[in-house]
Amino acid sequence: MTEPNIIAIDGPAASGKSTLAIHLANWLDYLYFDTGIMYRTVTLAALRAGIDIENEAEITGLANRITIDVKSPTPGSGRTYDVTLDGLDVTDEIRTAAVDANVSPVSAYGGVRKAMTEKQRAIGSRGKVVMVGRDIGTVVFPEADLKLYLVASVEERARRRHQELLASGESPDYQKIAESMRKRDDIDSHRSIAPLKPADDAHIINTDHLSIEQVFEQVKALIR
Ligand code: DC
Repeated sequence: MTEPNIIAIDGPAASGKSTLAIHLANWLDYLYFDTGIMYRTVTLAALRAGIDIENEAEITGLANRITIDVKSPTPGSGRTYDVTLDGLDVTDEIRTAAVDANVSPVSAYGGVRKAMTEKQRAIGSRGKVVMVGRDIGTVVFPEADLKLYLVASVEERARRRHQELLASGESPDYQKIAESMRKRDDIDSHRSIAPLKPADDAHIINTDHLSIEQVFEQVKALIR
């Protein structure tokens, strides 16, 4: 395969998409773009504004009004990127449990998806990009040159998220994480617009028993 211009990586939460995407983007010197950030930022904006999460019309209006920016990380922060909402940093806040619990319903709204998909296409169509999400290979860039779809059991994914939170000094509850993941998987894969599913031409990789290095090697072999 010649070097793919757009690489789409989809799959459920904590299936290893972001880690793989960062490795690939560094290796190819491509832009890494995580589209989940956008849905998370809309959700945070709605929570901050006190909008009922079931109020589709208001949340859609908000999604069209706010400015979401993803920039190079603050030096020394250890982050992969900085995210701003209307100019103010929200990089850490979009990862809280409150956002986790509300992001799936927000991302199921057609108007929200339309607004975010347009922004994602504008960013990705410049090329040399590794874009991560749920619908990149099916809806955002169905013409992507390389599509990867990562899967892993909910137990393994919850274990990974639990480890990450422990490492960042929190005291997470494994059962709660697993339950929240099951709920998100269910909503993300059963929504009517752009549900989580592999594109027909996606390479499906089960990461349950693979280290990140092994996944990365598999994908490098595909590209070579
Ligand atoms: O990848 P993540 O966990 O940060 O994504 C947060 C939520 O955003 C996820 O539950 C579903 C939604 N999402 C989406 O619907 N489409 C995308 N392309 C990316 C994320």
